Amino acid sequence: MTPPAGTATNRSRRLIVGNWKMNLTHADTVGYLQKLARGLPARYYHNVEVVVLPPFTAIRSAQTMVLSDGFMMTYGAQDVSQHESGAYTGEVSGAMLAELRCRYVVVGHSERRQHHHEDDTVVNAKVRAALAHGIPPILCVGEGLEVRDADSHIGHCTAQLTAALEKVIPEEAATVVVAYEPVWAIGTGRVAGPSEAQEVCAALRTTLGELYGQTVAGAVRVLYGGSVKSDNIGEIVAERDIDGALIGGASIDPDEFAKLCAIAAGGSLR
Ligand code: PGA
Repeated sequence: MTPPAGTATNRSRRLIVGNWKMNLTHADTVGYLQKLARGLPARYYHNVEVVVLPPFTAIRSAQTMVLSDGFMMTYGAQDVSQHESGAYTGEVSGAMLAELRCRYVVVGHSERRQHHHEDDTVVNAKVRAALAHGIPPILCVGEGLEVRDADSHIGHCTAQLTAALEKVIPEEAATVVVAYEPVWAIGTGRVAGPSEAQEVCAALRTTLGELYGQTVAGAVRVLYGGSVKSDNIGEIVAERDIDGALIGGASIDPDEFAKLCAIAAGGSLR
């Protein structure tokens, strides 16, 4: 099984995750990964861990390419069932994702909270389902516009984090990746300013410290997500408590994604 992420040394490497959402078929995935592998030279991977999250139908293709062809990016899933197995039509379990060697799985994305009515209890169950199979969840938290306008965003996000980690032990919590994604910045082109993102990411880390102590808080990777592109990734990952980014729209184009990863690694691509 994949070794858990989240050790202290991992924070020295940026984590860049491309969430394709419901885009790109199995056949598209093959072309995409070849393009990304050609576009991002091996030396960048010293400074950046690159992850793609294809739809379920394309994970097997990604596995074959990454594990057999020696590609340096890795892959994960966009969702996991809270259940172990059984009569849950359309659901995909943690065991199934672990067998495909998924490196991460997204839990609590605002699109699932909104369109699939996933509340904090479901998010917590999914976090624990992923951890039970050794897959670090990328746990998304974030506020809507009304919460931001009411200046309650810090309390909102830290409460979501606390609820999602209920009954998660410190050893497992250290492997979790937290993604701060303000809902008003997702797919809107309106990005949170680097200092606005840093403020929330720092508060999330403080909450982790209160829940689990400083060693865990210092080990957990905290990402920002919401309209991240190659134009703004540099200033976002320069912030002290931001260890990388979760990227939707800009991850669909392998050239743009390679460019963005290179900048996150501290370099550039022509
Ligand atoms: P976006 O999506 O980059 O298209 O804003 C981010 C996300 O939903 O993770």
